[in-house]
Amino acid sequence: MTDTVALEYNGQRFELPLLSATTGEKSIDVRDLRKLTGLTAFDPGFGNTASCASRITYVNGEKGILRYRGIPIETVAEKMLFTETAWLLIYGRLPTKAELKTFSARLTNNELLHEGLLHHFDAFPPSGQPMSILSAVVNSLICYSPEIMDTTNEEAMRNAVAAIISKVRTIAAFSYRKAMGLPFVYPDPNRSYCDNFLHMMFSLPNKPHQPTEAAVRALNLFLMLHADHEQNCSTSTVRIVGSAETNLFSSVASGICALWGKLHGGANVAVFEMLSRLSGGEETVPEFVERVKRREVRLMGFGHRVYKTFDPRAKILKKAVFDLLDAEHTDDPLIDTALELEQAALNDDYFKERHLYPNVDFYSGMILRALKIPLNMYTVMFAIGRMPGWIANWRENNEGQPKLARPRQLYEGPVETPFIPIEFR
Ligand code: CMC
Repeated sequence: MTDTVALEYNGQRFELPLLSATTGEKSIDVRDLRKLTGLTAFDPGFGNTASCASRITYVNGEKGILRYRGIPIETVAEKMLFTETAWLLIYGRLPTKAELKTFSARLTNNELLHEGLLHHFDAFPPSGQPMSILSAVVNSLICYSPEIMDTTNEEAMRNAVAAIISKVRTIAAFSYRKAMGLPFVYPDPNRSYCDNFLHMMFSLPNKPHQPTEAAVRALNLFLMLHADHEQNCSTSTVRIVGSAETNLFSSVASGICALWGKLHGGANVAVFEMLSRLSGGEETVPEFVERVKRREVRLMGFGHRVYKTFDPRAKILKKAVFDLLDAEHTDDPLIDTALELEQAALNDDYFKERHLYPNVDFYSGMILRALKIPLNMYTVMFAIGRMPGWIANWRENNEGQPKLARPRQLYEGPVETPFIPIEFR
């Protein structure tokens, strides 16, 4: 089997190395392409470019496979908790009981915010966008605790990791409380990660909130399923920003901004808005599907750059929605609309021909709705879940000497423009 690929150009033949993934996929190594041939590779949107080599997460879009450090997402969903998943992604293997205990203790030690930081929440208007608040406050953490910027040794790195994963949850809950005009509820060190988040969101000074086991389990599941997804838009952003040797906190803050967009993490909000319109009778499902096919709108929560079959996370979430609603003895009219829309799309040639299936965002909002998380927090929830993946990728990229990310371009502007003095223009 050849381990090079031949390229013929300008009457010359060049050999480019062929690299193999552990799972068998091949990649042409074009690092020396320009040096050898004077050519660059053109790939807007990076749809065909492996921007890095990674050992963290494997996605096979044709077969619908997702594995964290080799463990199938279905197993993660069934057997693990979010904090354990975070450790797995960041440190590369399953933690022992002792390691997990130490990690949980570090998370507890880091759950409070510097009191000075709390004044920032006063400066944001009540209608402030939670994603904007989240990215700003995560980036500001280093102003109050500059020591957590240091990730040059393993102990410091472990503290920085715990600080982000723990504090992001406190920041998210506090931004919600501020917007609602409710007092901050400080974290309770005796609660688990997800229980504690729901406590900070929904407890009142005179009435502590005790989420049900089913709610805590569903939140764990939601966060685990969002924990990493290899080189997506926000993770690539974190890697690119980190490649300039930018600190971990500012790098993940930029990841939060990238996630916000509605083609990425913001899709969970767009799905809800779409389903609400349909459920409210503004338009029937068949009418809406026809508009999608006329390209007037996109069917949000459908399609994926990598998956050309069912997103495995969507399958798990769909079942989890029904489990949670059953356990809470409640119902949601949007579910019927979602099922009708999913069936209509899956049976339609437009979607079949383009291999468009439900992605993670199609059903994730239903879980959040059942957990009483407000709509403007949906993408914030995705960001809390994605934090371990961003950290793991930043860490992997910044091991040793990071290579500064600096893509080339195909210039299409004027070759050289004569300057015209202002009086003659
Ligand atoms: N509704 C209608 N048509 C679609 C959709 C959709 N959701 N997604 C793709 N298409 C069509 C697209 O118009 C194109 O058709 P044609 O070949 O006739 O021009 C074809 O399918 C291929 O689409 P593409 O835009 O080249 O595919 P992409 O890989 O660039 O897009 C995507 C991926 C996620 C941006 C896109 O599928 C989309 O916009 N989906 C809706 C938004 C969404 O749900 N985003 C969440 C993604 S998963 C979670 C995450 O990453 O955060």
